[in-house]
Amino acid sequence: MNLQTVTPAPPDVILGLTEAFKKDPRPHKVNLGVGVFMDDAGRTPVLPTVKRAEEHLCRAETTKSYLPIAGLPEYGERVSELVFGARHAVLQAGRVRSAQTPGGTGALRVGAEFLRKFLPSSRVWLSAPTWPNHRGVFTAAGFAATEYPYYNPATRGLNFDRMSEALENVPENDLVVLHVCCHNPTGVDLTDAQWREVAAIAARRRWIPFFDFAYQGFGTGLEADRAGLLPFLETDLPVLVAASFSKNFGLYNERTGALALVAPNATLASAWLTHVRIVVRVLYSNPPAHGAAIVAKILGDAGERAAWEQEVSVMRARIVSIRDALVKGLRRRGAPMDFSFIHAQRGMFSFSGLQEAQVTFLREKKAIYIVGGGRINVAGITTRNVDYLCDSIIEALGEPS
Ligand SMILES: Cc1ncc(COP(=O)(O)O)c(C=O)c1O
Repeated sequence: MNLQTVTPAPPDVILGLTEAFKKDPRPHKVNLGVGVFMDDAGRTPVLPTVKRAEEHLCRAETTKSYLPIAGLPEYGERVSELVFGARHAVLQAGRVRSAQTPGGTGALRVGAEFLRKFLPSSRVWLSAPTWPNHRGVFTAAGFAATEYPYYNPATRGLNFDRMSEALENVPENDLVVLHVCCHNPTGVDLTDAQWREVAAIAARRRWIPFFDFAYQGFGTGLEADRAGLLPFLETDLPVLVAASFSKNFGLYNERTGALALVAPNATLASAWLTHVRIVVRVLYSNPPAHGAAIVAKILGDAGERAAWEQEVSVMRARIVSIRDALVKGLRRRGAPMDFSFIHAQRGMFSFSGLQEAQVTFLREKKAIYIVGGGRINVAGITTRNVDYLCDSIIEALGEPS
């Protein structure tokens, strides 16, 4: 191999779709591909609490000097409280350490690099299906990736029996990536009872849960959405959480995330963090400041925090109501299949049940962009485009597949 024979790499499946969408000249085009929240006007706005925090920072900031390798200490504290609950026993016992990272992706990669150092022969288990970048991030860190069953296309729900059977057979010290809520791409989550069962399996089999928490607040609520984590915190297992504030603070391009580590005791937690710092040092040295300063400011101020919680609930309510509009619109048009499963899914994503040929038809003939596999970002649907979308889906369903 040499540099002279390099051919172009395939585009990222999701970001490549956005590029194609941007180039599409058709004025009625609809982007249901990329995972960003949009309001009913189709915009991805800066939250008012974020704007106010930025104005404050602009006035109060006195230096652009480097942050510590693990980030702003107050950010770490506020974020751990948000992720685990402010009074949670793991925090009181000093069992949690966190590092500020460039987005949730950065948290996943830093966590993966840390684990790889101590568990070089472990594998990583990903849900089938999952966010495509999971495989990329963990294999880039050197892990071999494999899958556990998750989604059942026949029921359009969770295949819990096969999932738990597979997790019973995961070897000790392998990693299992779990979506805390708003599973991407299916929108299908575990119930609290199912989470308890999975935590019991993990405790018995001694595999390592690595949670991806990219949508806190987009499912049922900021507190309710962490329910999946809680039974794992009652075990003495190592628990890793990759938190992202891209969605719930709308801080997509500020790259704001955190890796939280829960160790069996405080001494070990501190030791782990020293190795995480080394990982960060050689990857990007120390994290970007702006997004984290915004989050720390909002979460540290009771009034702003309450305003932000309200903003999150408005985003969540829009997602719920647009799911409803889609299901009802399709039903009203006599859709040949029952789409009511879209109601039960949570978060921005939905496995629509559309087949590849229908996805292609919608993109080519209707300028409606959907990721292959039929995942739609319901937040891309607005009261203005929902009728066009429903009409187009009905047409697509009538197409030979
Ligand atoms: C499941 C999941 N994990 C992680 C991320 C990464 O988030 P960030 O943009 O903060 O890196 C995303 C973003 O789309 C996601 O959907």
